[in-house]
Amino acid sequence: MKVGIVGAGMVGSAAGYALALTGTVSRVVLVDLDAALARAQAEDIAHAVPFASSTVIEHGDYPALAGASVVILAAGVGQKPGETRLALLARNAAVFREVTARVLEHAPDAILLVASNPVDVMTQITTRLTGLPPERVIGSGTILDTARFRSLLGRHLGISPRSVHAYVLGEHGDSEVLAWSSARAGSAPLASFAAQVGAPITGHVRDAIDDGVRNAAYTIIAGKGATWYGIGAGLSRIVRAIAQDQNAVLSVSIATQDVLGVHDVALSLPRIVGAAGVTAHLMPDLADDEAAALMKSAQLLKDTADAVCL
Ligand code: 2OP
Repeated sequence: MKVGIVGAGMVGSAAGYALALTGTVSRVVLVDLDAALARAQAEDIAHAVPFASSTVIEHGDYPALAGASVVILAAGVGQKPGETRLALLARNAAVFREVTARVLEHAPDAILLVASNPVDVMTQITTRLTGLPPERVIGSGTILDTARFRSLLGRHLGISPRSVHAYVLGEHGDSEVLAWSSARAGSAPLASFAAQVGAPITGHVRDAIDDGVRNAAYTIIAGKGATWYGIGAGLSRIVRAIAQDQNAVLSVSIATQDVLGVHDVALSLPRIVGAAGVTAHLMPDLADDEAAALMKSAQLLKDTADAVCL
């Protein structure tokens, strides 16, 4: 299987690196307006391959995407320190008009995996620009926020984040919703597990974890200018679900007909991801305040996407 990556900045390259290390696919091709950057990143990643896998790492212009089953869209600009993801919208929407047309010219059957921020609105815009069925235009959405949530919960409980089952829903951004009420550790409801290991989820713990998840990107951007390892691994995880037809449940963003009464909006819910893209979504049991927050997040994203002139 071949994966194309458009945008060889840190996010696209970290995704290529994660794909190379995991050996998930046989071929990765990096495409960037800056051909020298694409070449340099591809060569650097290729030098990691002998330590890990047999993935072939290439670079090229758009025609090199021919035959790709998945194309990761990581083109555009990232947040400046203190800037929200939604403030990036105008700049990245303009970039995507051209990028999506050129991608589909050469890889018309690919599943598109949108990474550029604000990722939910960019996913909605990509769906509209391409006319592809929503299940083939997947935004990385809250896959990273979910990982951050599991990581902080795992640290608090003293267990592997992989034994934590909890999701972040809605926007990948300020209005996201941590679904505390449906969170589990092992097979136990979170509160019960936490009590049994002597690490109760007090109001203070809950606030600290919520803040840590919601503001993780701001903190990292303040320290190093951008984030890339986490999202690179998250993109690789989504590609693996597609490449291996795993039907894995992942929190990703697609244009969705109805989210708690808000229509035609791209946001994250736990969704089943396999070879055909997204085949179903699940609505976790939510507390009233979580449902209200999700509805608000959905409305914000819908209003923002609807205000973009394509
Ligand atoms: C992140 O959450 C900035 O969206 C990017 O790491």
